[in-house]
Amino acid sequence: MANNFIWGSNGVLPKIEEHTKRKLDVLKNYLDVYFETVVRNPALDQLNIALVDGFSGGGAYIDAAETRPGSPLVLLKSVEEAVGKLNEGRTKPLEINARFIFVDDEREHVEALRRELRRNGYADDDPRITILNGTFVEHLPAIIHQIKLTQRKGRSIFFLDQFGYSDVPMSAIRTIFTTLDRAEVVLNFAIDSLLNYLQEASAGLQLYQQFGVDDRFISDWQQRKDEHMGRAITQRALMAHIHMNSGAKFFTPFMLWSRTDNRWMMLAHLSQHQAARDKMLSVHWQKQNSFTHIGPGGLFSLGYDTRLIESCDSLFSFSEIDKTALNRELVNALPSEVHRIMHEGQLEVSRLLAEIGNRTAGTNNDIFHVLSELAQARELEVFSTKGKLKRPGTRIAISDRLVRPSQTTLFFPSRW
Ligand SMILES: C[S@@+](CC[C@H](N)C(=O)[O-])C[C@H]1O[C@@H](n2cnc3c(N)ncnc32)[C@H](O)[C@@H]1O
Repeated sequence: MANNFIWGSNGVLPKIEEHTKRKLDVLKNYLDVYFETVVRNPALDQLNIALVDGFSGGGAYIDAAETRPGSPLVLLKSVEEAVGKLNEGRTKPLEINARFIFVDDEREHVEALRRELRRNGYADDDPRITILNGTFVEHLPAIIHQIKLTQRKGRSIFFLDQFGYSDVPMSAIRTIFTTLDRAEVVLNFAIDSLLNYLQEASAGLQLYQQFGVDDRFISDWQQRKDEHMGRAITQRALMAHIHMNSGAKFFTPFMLWSRTDNRWMMLAHLSQHQAARDKMLSVHWQKQNSFTHIGPGGLFSLGYDTRLIESCDSLFSFSEIDKTALNRELVNALPSEVHRIMHEGQLEVSRLLAEIGNRTAGTNNDIFHVLSELAQARELEVFSTKGKLKRPGTRIAISDRLVRPSQTTLFFPSRW
């Protein structure tokens, strides 16, 4: 076991690593954005949600001279802060009815977590908190059952912070998505560890088959000519398989560099709803330099993109320069995509977002911005839900409809 994640009975806390801090920052930011958007509706006065930490650890780390909360406390505090913040200025008070389920298979880690929760003022019999000792997979059926009992839509966030890549089988993720409509999963996956230890015999093992690893995959990987590009391309192939086998419609793979282990980790966000992906993307833009997304940001496909080979400058990081490049790429790529998806010259903006959501690093606002530019250039007409033509340059909304202009244009000249 990696020794930066050992919580012993002596109460000594592990030292936190840089990439663990980043990971927990992203989790915290995501939850902040999540609650802010989900409860934006002023008429809503109660939100039921389950927060599942499937690999909870012992609850705290040492960070220089300070104690730093681990993921269970990040979840608890995020909800408490959200309630405080979201109730400011509300006439109808909002209640977040959150259930927390923490699982860890090491008894000592569970005990350390109990101590840490107590130290932070949570009673042992706090009805909101369930702590389970055992593996995540063995507890999953009961967890799902519990969530379904308390809420119809199964609104839940699963934080699955495994050490490597073998403790969260794809079948478990599929089960989550087939049984809980509003579930989201944030999965830690040691993508480089999987690649570094691949052997010919791995193709015969179910552990690797579930990630699309077969003889061909292994031989392509072993015969890579360029380490950097070969790795980037193989990582993308793995991501595509994980996405396909997860049962989730939306998949946002972002990469986290572990300086200690000298390898890439992947923190993947999986969901069934485009709005959830959009929220996660906005967090990655906020955290710009910590994460690097592999590939261009405009429109790309996950499995294999020749542009990765054509342009060695293919590491996309979330900095301001890339925002400009992204805008340029989207202006070039969106018209043909809109054209391709349009049916009889019409396309709902929501459908466009659902179709391209997985293939862009752009948030909905970035896409709206480009659509608005295209409308100003008379390349598109935009109609509101009420069927009114919007003035070019007016803000685009998710409920709008795009219509092919009657005149031929620069981007849409023929074949309509
Ligand atoms: C990376 S640490 C978790 C760190 C924690 N999420 C945090 O951010 O503070 C992984 C934890 O998962 C536990 N673990 C390992 N295999 C497990 C399994 N199959 N099911 C549940 N817990 C497991 C380990 O004991 C360890 O405490």
